[in-house]
Amino acid sequence: MQALRSDEQIREVNTRYHDVAASGYDRKWGIDFGPTGRAQVLAKARKGLGARLDHGFARALEVGAGTGYFGLHLTQAGFIAELTCTDISAGMLEALGANAGRLGLETVQTVRADAERLPFADRSFDLVLGHAILHHLPDLDRAFGEFRRVLRPGGRILFAGEPSSLGDRIARLPKRAALLAAPLWRRALGAAPIDTPDDQQQPAAGAHRLEAEVDIHTFTPGQLERLARGAGLVDVDVRGEELLANWFGWFNRGLEATAADTDVPWWWRQYAFRGYLCLQKLDRAALEPHLPTGLFYNLLLTGGRPEDS
Ligand SMILES: C[S@@+](CC[C@H](N)C(=O)[O-])C[C@H]1O[C@@H](n2cnc3c(N)ncnc32)[C@H](O)[C@@H]1O
Repeated sequence: MQALRSDEQIREVNTRYHDVAASGYDRKWGIDFGPTGRAQVLAKARKGLGARLDHGFARALEVGAGTGYFGLHLTQAGFIAELTCTDISAGMLEALGANAGRLGLETVQTVRADAERLPFADRSFDLVLGHAILHHLPDLDRAFGEFRRVLRPGGRILFAGEPSSLGDRIARLPKRAALLAAPLWRRALGAAPIDTPDDQQQPAAGAHRLEAEVDIHTFTPGQLERLARGAGLVDVDVRGEELLANWFGWFNRGLEATAADTDVPWWWRQYAFRGYLCLQKLDRAALEPHLPTGLFYNLLLTGGRPEDS
């Protein structure tokens, strides 16, 4: 059984794991800084911000920005004028800086910071955003208190890509199915199984095993809503996204994780990526409007600081 970790240890493991993961992060998660990735991010931002997105945001803060997937796309598309990206991992921020440089985004600032202790003045930002970050934070009440503090009155929050408790439990099925199907799949592709490296000799591999230890929460829609309201935010809304796309994605990722990267052919990656995008469209059009929020894998949270606060 895994030993209980203190909040400080969770932050330390997050830093160590993400520092190691940084250089291969975009490749591992299929992060794309071209038009496809941008369309994905804009669809999520529009879902959460609606028409407010078109007015744009003068100053935005991204927490747990990683390599920049969310904020860089919104900045490149012209919806954010000045973006400050924070993360607890220096390695991730270094990768983000390189991505911003390649995209020619000179106004993007990076600041290494814990999401629960933001080194910014009160009321500094029009938008506080994050993608796949809340489930790593040990003290969520404290973090939401910080988000509200640094928001100007009338400012908005947008958090996407948070795992739902039920969606996460359902996703164990395709993950298990992938493990069962993996030997057949590798044989069909002529791919060799990856060895299990020795942590002593390959510290990077040891850090990758920490993956299970950095994901410390899943959420019900009600829990996310209570966190935002508890911090004094209003106009709070939680939406669910991705069901079929997610099962398909976890199944394929589960297969791919059992083979060396170089043995997975280009056409397979294309099939996995394109298939995921098609199912995402199907989820959006046919399932999201009708099924309960908590059934979906990803939750998207929005809210705002009251004008008179
Ligand atoms: C799953 S990654 C998501 C990165 C990026 N937002 C994306 O969507 O690709 C989570 C990020 O949160 C960062 N993180 C973890 N704990 C944090 C904390 N306490 N404060 C700030 N960032 C943290 C990690 O270093 C990592 O970059």
